[in-house]
Amino acid sequence: MNISIKTPEEIENIRIASQLAAEILVLLREHVRAGVTTGELNEIAHKHITEVQGGTPATLGYHGFPASICTSLNHQVCHGIPGDKTLRDGDILNIDVTVIKDGWYGDTSAMYTVGKPSVRAQRLIDVTHEAMMKGIETVRPDATLGDIGHAIQTHAESSGFSVVREYCGHGIGRNFHEDPQVVHYGNPGEGVRLKEGMVFTIEPMINAGKKEIKLLGDGWTVVTKDHSLSAQWEHTVAVTKDGFDILSLPPA
Ligand code: MF3
Ligand code: CO
Ligand code: CO
Repeated sequence: MNISIKTPEEIENIRIASQLAAEILVLLREHVRAGVTTGELNEIAHKHITEVQGGTPATLGYHGFPASICTSLNHQVCHGIPGDKTLRDGDILNIDVTVIKDGWYGDTSAMYTVGKPSVRAQRLIDVTHEAMMKGIETVRPDATLGDIGHAIQTHAESSGFSVVREYCGHGIGRNFHEDPQVVHYGNPGEGVRLKEGMVFTIEPMINAGKKEIKLLGDGWTVVTKDHSLSAQWEHTVAVTKDGFDILSLPPA
């Protein structure tokens, strides 16, 4: 494992890229409506990143991924490919955006609802956000990756939901995915010890039903095996002298 420590100047570069990604999530809020296709959302994001932000959408062409954002609908866990799927009242959607700016990466995702979601769907979305925040709040020098995972797992499971095991958060900087792997389950005190200057994502995928997943035939889209709903939120986070700094927090 080779976890790079970023200088304050490097962290500011990652913040710039992360803020651009967060801006796309805010921009897309008003476009997530019944009747809109996920492909249209991708077009809007692609245009804004390339023409307004002067950035590059990191997912486009990444290991062959064909789009500038990931759109994961209802029982889709992650890496959904935007296309001609039309959003319908009651749908829940994750949009994941990664922007490269001046060689630095920023990665963040959020949940959206179309019209009125079920009470259970809204609770899944809320609990997943709370779980991510509880994970982030453990971040400080000398805490461990196990502390993060434990906080997330405990909140998700005590709410009756399950944590996806196969996909995790990751170090980020001049590369999309760097060490360490940040899993969203674990035991306090275990795993890598955090140091000031580490930068990584925390991005729990939480299922309303069982934790098992499967990969669809398109080679990308991950869905829950039991077809239960799944939610995810993601932030890019830096370890500071005495805690954490959420680099992808959208401007208030
Ligand atoms: N943005 C995703 C993450 O959080 C990765 C998407 S890779 C893709 O790490 F190829 F599926 F787009
Ligand atoms: Co990520
Ligand atoms: Co992401």
